[in-house]
This record gives sequence, C-alpha cells and structure tokens, in this order.
Amino acid sequence: MDYKIRKTKLEDMKSVEDAHRRSILEICSNDYTLDQIEKFSGVKYSAEIWDNSVNNEYHIVVEVSGRVEGMCHAKLREDGDGEIVGVYFSKVIAGQGIGRDVVEMAFDYLDQFKPKNIILTGTLTAKPFYEKMGFVEVEKKKINCRGALLDCFKMEKHIND
Ligand SMILES: CC(C)(COP(=O)(O)OP(=O)(O)OC[C@H]1O[C@@H](n2cnc3c(N)ncnc32)[C@H](O)[C@@H]1OP(=O)(O)O)[C@@H](O)C(=O)NCCC(=O)NCCS
Repeated sequence: MDYKIRKTKLEDMKSVEDAHRRSILEICSNDYTLDQIEKFSGVKYSAEIWDNSVNNEYHIVVEVSGRVEGMCHAKLREDGDGEIVGVYFSKVIAGQGIGRDVVEMAFDYLDQFKPKNIILTGTLTAKPFYEKMGFVEVEKKKINCRGALLDCFKMEKHIND
C-alpha cells in the first residue's frame, strides 16, 4: 500500500478529525460498549486549540491516496515529561507497522527536550501496542469522554535519568 507520512497543516483539521473518529468506530469498537463508542467517537476539534497545537506541538498525519487515514500528536508537558497525546489510525492503515513508525518519529521529536519520561493515557485497544513500544502501565484510569466513562491506562516509558 502506498502511504505518505507528513507534517500536519492547519487546513487538515477536518480530515484529521474524520480519521480520528473513524479510528474509534472501526478499531476501538471491540473494546467498549456501543454507548461508549458513540460518545467517544463524537470527536470535535476546537479551531482555536487546533491552530495553537499544530503550530507549537508535534503533529503528523498518514495519508493514502490524498486522504488522511491516521494521525499522531505528541508534545512536551509543562512538568518536563514528553507526552504521546494521541495516535489514531483508520482500518485502512492499522496493523501494518506504521503505528510503530509514527511513535518512533514522535520519540525522535521529544528527544531534543531530554525528558525523563514519556507518558500517555492509553485505551484498552491500544494498550498491547504501547507495551510493544516499551510503555508500562502505571495506573488504571476512568476517562470521562463526552459523557462516557472509558477504562483507560496511564502508561509511562522511562528514557533519561
Ligand atoms: C494503536 C494504533 C495506532 C496502533 O497502530 P498500528 O499501525 O496498528 O500498530 P503497528 O502495526 O505498528 O504495531 C506495532 C507492534 O504492536 C503490536 N500490536 C499492535 N496492536 C496490537 C494488539 N492489539 N495486540 C497485540 N499487539 C499489537 C504489533 O503486532 C506490532 O508488533 P511487532 O512490532 O512486534 O510486529 C492503532 O491500532 C489504532 O489506531 N487503534 C485505535 C485508536 C486508539 O485506541 N488509539 C490510542 C489512543 S491513546
């Protein structure tokens, strides 16, 4: 399959939102109830937060035939840790090793800040993937996502002393 990984542009907001929503519907549905998936997939980005985040944090997309099918967002937190904020792939690109590639690209970006840890809040769906990427569970969490309480995990990867 031909795909392209590129930096996210401001004008990608609606297509990234759409890929994010499809990822939840197509990939997370086995792990959460219908009601949880309905609320979780009601993804709606705020234009103001989007612009600021795309301009100042790490955002990449995966495109197939000009359509955004996945995204990865990472940032440096105020406490000095790195954070993988989200990785969401549609079924078109999932399961082919591209998730590993984009997360490794995010590690490379975060490396310039020399964080002690990289943290994330992972879904039930993505936990085995993040474990493969070297993260360990530090806490179980219930995340309120647009009114749905989702079982998630705070995960961490220690990288610098
Ligand atoms: C999480 C996600 C981005 C992973 O991307 P992906 O491209 O499917 O993952 P990869 O194919 O790169 O997998 C990398 C490794 O993790 C393993 N892996 C991925 N998903 C797995 C699963 N559910 N169970 C066991 N192992 C898994 C792969 O086998 C692979 O192992 P290998 O390197 O030894 O071969 C994708 O599955 C997804 O979009 N999930 C739904 C959205 C979601 O929950 N995102 C997380 C929000 S925090």
